[in-house]
Amino acid sequence: MLVDRVALRDFRNYERADVALAPKLTIVTGSNGAGKTNLLEAVYFGLTARSCRTRNEREMVRHGCRVTHVAVDATDDSGTHRFEVGFEPGEAKRISIDGAAQTSAPIAQVQRPPVSVFVPERLELIKGAPALRRSHVDQLIAAIWPARAETRASYSRALAQRNALIARIRAGRSSPSSLDPWDQELSRAGFALMEDRAAALDEVVPLFAQRATEIGLPGAAAIRYRPRSQAASAGDLLTELEQRRDGDLDRGFSGHGPHRDDLMLELAGRSLRSYGSQGQQRAALLALLFAERDVLVEAGRPPLMLLDDVMSELDAKRRSQLVGLIRSGGQALLTATEFAHVPAEAAADVALVNVTDGVADGAQGLRAA
Ligand SMILES: Nc1ncnc2c1ncn2[C@@H]1O[C@H](COP(=O)(O)OP(=O)(O)OP(=O)(O)O)[C@@H](O)[C@H]1O
Ligand SMILES: [Mg+2]
Repeated sequence: MLVDRVALRDFRNYERADVALAPKLTIVTGSNGAGKTNLLEAVYFGLTARSCRTRNEREMVRHGCRVTHVAVDATDDSGTHRFEVGFEPGEAKRISIDGAAQTSAPIAQVQRPPVSVFVPERLELIKGAPALRRSHVDQLIAAIWPARAETRASYSRALAQRNALIARIRAGRSSPSSLDPWDQELSRAGFALMEDRAAALDEVVPLFAQRATEIGLPGAAAIRYRPRSQAASAGDLLTELEQRRDGDLDRGFSGHGPHRDDLMLELAGRSLRSYGSQGQQRAALLALLFAERDVLVEAGRPPLMLLDDVMSELDAKRRSQLVGLIRSGGQALLTATEFAHVPAEAAADVALVNVTDGVADGAQGLRAA
């Protein structure tokens, strides 16, 4: 699916904007504070019904306004589809696809174009807690194989049920043997989830190493999947759960299984989370996102890449390598304070958008040669 257009109303510093995206590259320029990142966030919000910058979603509503609204048009073989999100703090979001109301946020991968985002806040993926990396890899699984999103959902349901039951047992309202069916279900979905995570990473890891070298990371970059469980089958995981049952009942929650997995991103054998410089962490995140894009291109689901200010901290050689990567597949939206930061080879067949104080110009179909 190609994203053709985004229209916003009362979103951050925009009263209204209507911006056409090019099939390959759209470059959004403007000075600090003009609204470049806001525009990129709006595209993400329109497609997913989530912010890629904040958990406090009311920040997205323009000061002094009650409601914000974003519509994104995207085209595939079946025609053009419209994704709309209306949001008023304190109320449920109004989400629709082609006019049909959707009940749940975020919008499921299977229903929309995949989107991959680089904003400074996303460095948390490397620096932050394991839960962010787990949920990232699970999103990737859903983007590559939309049907497998169900595995994570069933695991989460079984885990919640098992934890609720543990609380009942501790309160003397149920017997420990009532855990049996939930352990069965948890081990079945849990082992499937571990297999999906390993399979997704098998695809991404070699490309990650390659992209990291291209972007200029010194030394070999690697990702290691660190599952909590060593199980080689669902039966093994069931045995592990049974062995830990008394401990879980003591603690009051399930302490074992893929909800405790982590991924280690490494450079030259050392953890990027603990030892990586800011620049290395940025480069690693970019390498990861491009590796994932390549896997998704291969799967026939190329993502829209939203790349916020990725050029500014790179030298000229790395900038042109990055542009080569951007150009090598799929669709991208790139922000930069100065057009001069974007290497000349990027400039063919792009849409240029200039933003000043929440007004987007040149947006409607303007193409630079
Ligand atoms: N809810 C809001 N209502 C009105 N203005 C907002 C809102 N949220 C943010 N802004 C304004 O948006 C502007 C920042 O926009 P944005 O982050 O998109 O800038 P930018 O162009 O990416 O700048 P930089 O180059 O510094 O990253 C700020 O002036 C900020 O005050
Ligand atoms: Mg910005």
